[in-house]
Amino acid sequence: MSEAIWWAVARSEEISAEKPFNVDIGDQPIVLWRETDGTVRALEDRCPHRRAPLSLGCILGSGAIQCGYHGWTFDGESGQLVDIPNLKSERKYPPVYKAKPFGVHESAGFVRICLDAKAPPPADDGYALPLSGTSTVALEHGQYIAALFDDPSLLISIKGVRFSPYLLAELCEQEGQLVMERSCQWASPHWPAPFTSDFPISLRIATDPVTGESDLTLRDDEFNLLLQATLAPVPGARQVTQVRWRAMLSPERPGLAAKAMGLGAPLRVHDHIDGAALRVLKPSASIHADDLREKIAARTDQQDEVA
Ligand code: FES
Repeated sequence: MSEAIWWAVARSEEISAEKPFNVDIGDQPIVLWRETDGTVRALEDRCPHRRAPLSLGCILGSGAIQCGYHGWTFDGESGQLVDIPNLKSERKYPPVYKAKPFGVHESAGFVRICLDAKAPPPADDGYALPLSGTSTVALEHGQYIAALFDDPSLLISIKGVRFSPYLLAELCEQEGQLVMERSCQWASPHWPAPFTSDFPISLRIATDPVTGESDLTLRDDEFNLLLQATLAPVPGARQVTQVRWRAMLSPERPGLAAKAMGLGAPLRVHDHIDGAALRVLKPSASIHADDLREKIAARTDQQDEVA
């Protein structure tokens, strides 16, 4: 797992000053919490004393986190040990007992973590889309993204919309992102209708080549915006992918079917994947993804060398 990647590991509303929150990036467990001024802190979720998860402890009024096992207390910014209950005040805390801190950045309703605490912060992403949720899927991160490219219906549902197998634009690179566009239809009792030429909706997916974070944009045939969403998949322990998402329905949606998207949840991100359908899913759009990623990575390396 590369150190200098910013992963969207939580939604802002998941992190509080009341209770520590546990996530992981690959095999790295992380505890997150807020200090009373709202600042988010992130440390390795493993007490340096006897390895108890710090996420089972509590947040003190000072903003420090206290391990639930023997009460050792750690500063959220540096990870330094700041208190051991019953230790005589003249004794020094051994510096070896330090919890590893991580870089934290919060924007657009997501809390991002970088395993390299000294990495420069990422750019702010604008405003937080109002609808949000979290799903945890028993599928490896790379496979999750490949399935999103090849058949998004395995991973998400958009109210009243059928994803067709037809692409308006093959997976390609645009400004450092992997971008594709899929033809869609309004759901009807007559689906599947393979010979219809009427695909009044399109779904554009723009994906970060490293993290897989994807911006989804659904538009009608007059290019009116219907729905926008961000899916942020993060590789977790044991080949599990944690997906945080945010979405917004466009307030102006011409047509009855588009208006009906506002009845109930417009977007569902699945917790369970149909294994039988996944097994027979042939790679289509995703077969170009690795080549494109290599090209983007090679160009980024060149730019870094010149800089
Ligand atoms: S294991 Fe955390 S204080 Fe002992």
